[in-house]
Amino acid sequence: MNPQKIYILGIESSCDDTSAAILCNGKVLSNVVASQKIHEQYGGVVPELASRAHQQNIVPVIDQAIKQAGIDKNDLSAIAFTRGPGLMGSLLVGTSFAKSLALALDIPLIDVNHMQAHILAHYIEEDGFDKPEFPFLAMTISGGHTQIVKVNDHFDMEIIGETIDDAVGEAFDKSAKILGLPYPGGPLIDKYAQLGNPKAFQFPKPKVGELNFSFSGLKTAVLYFIQKKVKENPDFIKENRNDVCASLQYTIINILVDKLKKAAKQTGIKSIAIGGGVSANSGIRKALKEGEQKYGWKTYIPKFEYTTDNAAMIAIVGYLKYAKKDFADMSVVAKARIKL
Ligand code: KG4
Ligand code: ZN
Repeated sequence: MNPQKIYILGIESSCDDTSAAILCNGKVLSNVVASQKIHEQYGGVVPELASRAHQQNIVPVIDQAIKQAGIDKNDLSAIAFTRGPGLMGSLLVGTSFAKSLALALDIPLIDVNHMQAHILAHYIEEDGFDKPEFPFLAMTISGGHTQIVKVNDHFDMEIIGETIDDAVGEAFDKSAKILGLPYPGGPLIDKYAQLGNPKAFQFPKPKVGELNFSFSGLKTAVLYFIQKKVKENPDFIKENRNDVCASLQYTIINILVDKLKKAAKQTGIKSIAIGGGVSANSGIRKALKEGEQKYGWKTYIPKFEYTTDNAAMIAIVGYLKYAKKDFADMSVVAKARIKL
């Protein structure tokens, strides 16, 4: 093997996507994601089913990632895996597999914090994408988290604002469920929103202090609004789906952008990156770009495939930790809750 080439296998299994990726010196050679369709019918992730699906998927997904990368498993320099946060049963599958493979190949094992990975995904070597310079603000918006993080260095991060109840992805998914859309409803709301009028209906914006967020009230407001409208007109959802989605998305984006404006003002930092599944949303991407003109921001929007859960983001953290020789030992265990 060429000693200049560092090959990292990344493994992600924190929620309902089984993913494996191979990076060579920070560049993605493969990034395979197996999404679990099983949860659609339940309107949310069922932890026990997720864990079982990970067990079925993990070997073929890793095998495919290695084959697609055109390397042999013996070329691997290290294995990086998601240690947490996430669903315990799901995390255990990736953790156990990573430990066994690292032991069998006698190569270093690297534990990765999933939330750091959503932020550090911006350091994947990708043509046409700049890497943020420190310090910058990162807004991580996903199905499990909503945070504004001050990133001083790769591994020096400080949460300066976060949700006090639901995550923004939950606001999308739960509202979608109320509209009768399958899980995860976020991408569908995005799709229909693009066909609707964002000013058609008004939803309340929460009053939460500082840089924190709250989304549970919005979900309840959507529920009461829909119940009332459907009582008046049973076809209300069918007739107004696009406008409801557009109005809801408009409200959510306003909430996010308002807090970003506040965070930028408070910290004096105008470099802003987004990460996490909701950063795939077309509206937030557009609003951020507009922020460049309106507020003088420099914004960093990840490539679409590195927004939702994926192993390339785990592998890039592995690569950065490999350079520091920051390895885990074999006694490392999965953790459902870990801080940044
Ligand atoms: O980061 P992620 O894949 O998993 C977690 O760590 O939670 O994020 C999943 C979340 C889901 O709530 C999904 O509905 C949301 O990201 N999402 C979107 C879009 N694509 C994914 N929400 C709004 N618009 C989208 N285009
Ligand atoms: Zn995630």
